[in-house]
Amino acid sequence: MTLPENRKKFDDLVNRWIVLEESTINEAKNLTGNSRNPMVRAIIDLLRMDSEKHKHILQTIQKSMHSTVTFSTDDLKVVDTFVEKHMTLEKNAIETAEQALEMSSLPIPRLLLSHLLEDEKSHDAYMSELNDIKGYMAKDTD
Ligand SMILES: [Fe+2]
Ligand SMILES: [Fe+2]
Repeated sequence: MTLPENRKKFDDLVNRWIVLEESTINEAKNLTGNSRNPMVRAIIDLLRMDSEKHKHILQTIQKSMHSTVTFSTDDLKVVDTFVEKHMTLEKNAIETAEQALEMSSLPIPRLLLSHLLEDEKSHDAYMSELNDIKGYMAKDTD
């Protein structure tokens, strides 16, 4: 993924990013502990859960940099099934989220729903991009 001379710099950047995500997670956990209001908790959870996701994915990328990753035919089948099922599901989720957002008028639910809608759009784009690079994964299979 990166040239050997850039490996250390990349590692440092990912480490720094993970530390930032951990700060968000810890700070958010402390704050949600101070409120029993479900909406306040949801406002904070929206970010905390993304940070947990980011940390997990960054750690996986980091580990993958220290070994050779290959994809078996079974792995490819799993990815194929994932793309096949989720391309439609995510498009449906966008349509549904747009309708829900249109119907809601209160500021906090609207704020949360609009961010979830952006997530759904990002999931849809992710599935298309993944579909486009599936061939790359098939290059080095057993
Ligand atoms: Fe993040
Ligand atoms: Fe989604």
